[in-house]
Amino acid sequence: MPNDPHPPPAKKFKPGSVFFRLDRNKPGMLLPRKGNATTPIEVQRKQLPIYQAKPQLLNQLRQLPNVILIGETGSGKTTQIPQYLYEAGIGRQGMVAITQPRRVAAISLAGRVAEEKRTQLGKLVGYTVRFEDVTSSETKLKFMTDGMLLREAIGDPLLLRYTVVVLDEAHERTVHTDVLFGVVKAAQRKRRELHKIPLKVIVMSATMDVDLFSEYFNKSPVLYLEGRQHPIQIYYTKHPQSDYLQAALVSVFQIHQEAPPSHDILVFMTGQEEIEALARTCRDIAKHLPDGCSPMVVIPLYASLPPAQQLRVFQLAPKGCRKVILSTNIAETSLTISGIKYVIDTGMVKAKRFNPDSGLEVLAVQRISKAQAWQRSGRAGREDSGSCYRLYTEAEFDSLIPMTVPEIQRCNLASVMLQLMALGIPDVMNFDFMSKPSPEAVHSAVEHLELLGAVERKEGQVFLTALGKKMASFPLEPRYAKTILLSPDYSCSEEILCIVSLLSVDTVLFNPPARREEVLAARKKFSSSEGDHMTLLSIYRAFKKVSGNKEWCRENFVNSRNMGLVKDVQAQLKEICLKMNLKMESCGADTEDVRRCLAHGMFVNAAELQPDGSYLALDTHQPVAIHPSSVLFQAKPAYVVFNELLHTSRCYMRDLCLVDADWLLDAAPEYFGRKLHLTRS
Ligand code: CDP
Ligand code: MG
Repeated sequence: MPNDPHPPPAKKFKPGSVFFRLDRNKPGMLLPRKGNATTPIEVQRKQLPIYQAKPQLLNQLRQLPNVILIGETGSGKTTQIPQYLYEAGIGRQGMVAITQPRRVAAISLAGRVAEEKRTQLGKLVGYTVRFEDVTSSETKLKFMTDGMLLREAIGDPLLLRYTVVVLDEAHERTVHTDVLFGVVKAAQRKRRELHKIPLKVIVMSATMDVDLFSEYFNKSPVLYLEGRQHPIQIYYTKHPQSDYLQAALVSVFQIHQEAPPSHDILVFMTGQEEIEALARTCRDIAKHLPDGCSPMVVIPLYASLPPAQQLRVFQLAPKGCRKVILSTNIAETSLTISGIKYVIDTGMVKAKRFNPDSGLEVLAVQRISKAQAWQRSGRAGREDSGSCYRLYTEAEFDSLIPMTVPEIQRCNLASVMLQLMALGIPDVMNFDFMSKPSPEAVHSAVEHLELLGAVERKEGQVFLTALGKKMASFPLEPRYAKTILLSPDYSCSEEILCIVSLLSVDTVLFNPPARREEVLAARKKFSSSEGDHMTLLSIYRAFKKVSGNKEWCRENFVNSRNMGLVKDVQAQLKEICLKMNLKMESCGADTEDVRRCLAHGMFVNAAELQPDGSYLALDTHQPVAIHPSSVLFQAKPAYVVFNELLHTSRCYMRDLCLVDADWLLDAAPEYFGRKLHLTRS
């Protein structure tokens, strides 16, 4: 396979020029839909590109302790390699772990492999993701998020349960996978030297840039799978687009009116809100298309979507109906959807960005890398030739960075550092990272953990404190863990557990923009002048009161499934608390102590109202604003703590809680005294 993805020749395309042009006289090509619904699953397995390489692959997999395997998305790596290993009896004494950066992928892949093996999920094939474990003593092939394997490593640094670890989607370079590289490498070496129990490590990637992986794993051999990529026509816009959503909308309908309905469209966008908004607009427009225009099903795809809804993307659209999938970068490599003939690439992605000076991590919509652009266009050529419409100019494409920067170099490292220390890694600063984070970022993370009381420095060394050890037991960000651990002091553990669980489950509330007025009216009943945390809490209490009644959920724009998950998460966090003998109490109706506790746990994320009505983050003096979705948007309290920053047109604080300046000062007198001008009121 060549070392270059061979970009197809570019053509110019200008969306917007022919919006709504109907050309009904043009005969449709009516290609038979290449669904695989009727092909027996055994046959499907044999049709995968990887199947032809099976004997050679097994030969190599048997011999080598480390393998790096590259193959196009959809060639069968993730679903087949674990089965090949199992069927050939490689590493059967223990389990095979297959890590995925995303929860959805872990769940859906485990489901698929269980189906292929004709067994019930949770038996031979299972999965473990945060707050959900579908495995049993029979499980041999275990799909899991990279974060979960890292967490398991805390209790079992040598990963003795596993004989093979497959680090999948390695090209994504999530911070957890990056840390796992170091953890499995160390485990492999120690197991060989001390215990003579081998550990096989397989790194799988969908992109070619694997020199770094090979170098890191002692120059291990790289196996390439021949791809089955069909030609893809790439189109660029003539001019830069100021509104990529509008451009995407126009392109969808332009294709819809010109292409046969069996050709599905995949649109890459940045996040849930804009996906849901565009889905609604598309559905509205589709309803009013002239006669003769085929119907359209619009399917959103993003990580926080309930799994049942996520699975809808794999279902075939009814005959004569076009499927339009609006997805985040989740469909770039980890999920393969058949039937895609057109890709529309907005060129944008929502990703973390970190400023080590300020210690603040923000989620921001930003340009993708060239590698991502090629991955996205590749989705159009899986089964036949296809087209990719890039909603940016060729010059803009040329200016993209070649590779995505590994997450470890652009995220807040506090959580990872805490885990590494809990793993007993003596010198975190010199951990064997494949790509080292900047010393400033490491320093900033240690400082953050020090502020939270999780670590302390002695003679230049950093140690985990007793509090830090407890914090590491929670599968949560350090500040949430800290807030939980503080809660018994405020007699509000029940409430804090509930709030943290609500924040750990994505989006328990629906906010359809088209029904904004209705949403606001429904929310008003629960809206608390104390902020979003308290509002969420009162919605949850109301949800429990009606026992999760579906009708009630619909009327109040509450996501009943995710609310149900909150209960599970809460139960699991409670279990950890009970193991630590934390006192579980409820403060009842008076929630001031809950806010005190939040202020104490989250003081690093605090902001202060300025005389001109704007806000400054207390830590960095960076200007921030209240997100319009917050119940405090109008109220503008003097001091707030917030959960996260979202960078769009400006830097927005999301999920806010009203606090007193005094509480912040009490939480960290030295910190605020040293760094800030905060004064006692
Ligand atoms: O890992 P890689 O991208 O190489 O491929 P894979 O995930 O093993 O997928 C191989 C094939 O399995 C896909 O092309 C799909 O046809 C099928 N598959 C599926 O039908 N449902 C899933 N949840 C996952 C895979
Ligand atoms: Mg895969």
